[in-house]
Amino acid sequence: MKKHLTLAMFALLALPAAQAQDKPKVNAATLEKYTRAMWPKTPDGWEKRITYDETQAICSQYRNELPQAEFEKVKARELATVKLPADGNVLGDWKKGRSTANNGRGGTFTDRPMENGANCYACHQMDKAELSYGTLGPSLLNYGKDRKFAPEEARATYAKIYNSMAVFPCSSMPRFGYHGFLTEAQMKDLTAFLFDPESPVNK
Ligand code: HEC
Repeated sequence: MKKHLTLAMFALLALPAAQAQDKPKVNAATLEKYTRAMWPKTPDGWEKRITYDETQAICSQYRNELPQAEFEKVKARELATVKLPADGNVLGDWKKGRSTANNGRGGTFTDRPMENGANCYACHQMDKAELSYGTLGPSLLNYGKDRKFAPEEARATYAKIYNSMAVFPCSSMPRFGYHGFLTEAQMKDLTAFLFDPESPVNK
């Protein structure tokens, strides 16, 4: 009996919070002002990381559910940022891609300049042998194999890694190339990790 009461109380408490989330009471400009105030001294390059670009702003405005016209506009704008490797080869070294995918270091205040990890496993299954992975994104097991290792699919995948929103506006997948978080060589290695027939992703 006591247990039931407790659960009922929880339900009552939880309800207003959920509703508050649906309709934010604080306007975006106020939120922006206070977010900035939390970072009075940003190291070089950090200003950009706490400033919305046009795409992030519109994704927030529509809570990631864009009307069709906006969806197409964002997709076109993001696609225009994608730079494929100059020689057209999007496939690097899958073994290096394997370790970059599984490396979550880099990008914090206290990190010295380093080659960042991609942390793909935070959201995706890739190599079957890696048991620790998130499920926010779809499983990428057999990714290249399922696409018959087609070169145009590999190019599309490189572009997806470069800028996820060029494919899916308001995606929660980071825009790795757009933000300069990963290098061209790293993105080629990651594409090879997904597309090389020898890669464990395709075994
Ligand atoms: C924060 C979570 C997150 C991280 C980190 C992340 N992704 Fe994603 N990814 C997603 C989500 C969510 C989707 C599905 C929506 C979309 O397509 O954007 C996705 C989709 C994809 C797709 C397309 C899948 C399909 O259905 O064809 C590929 C390829 C991909 N991710 C590769 C990667 C690679 C490679 C990395 C690491 C460099 C990575 N992702 C890191 C969340 C993430």
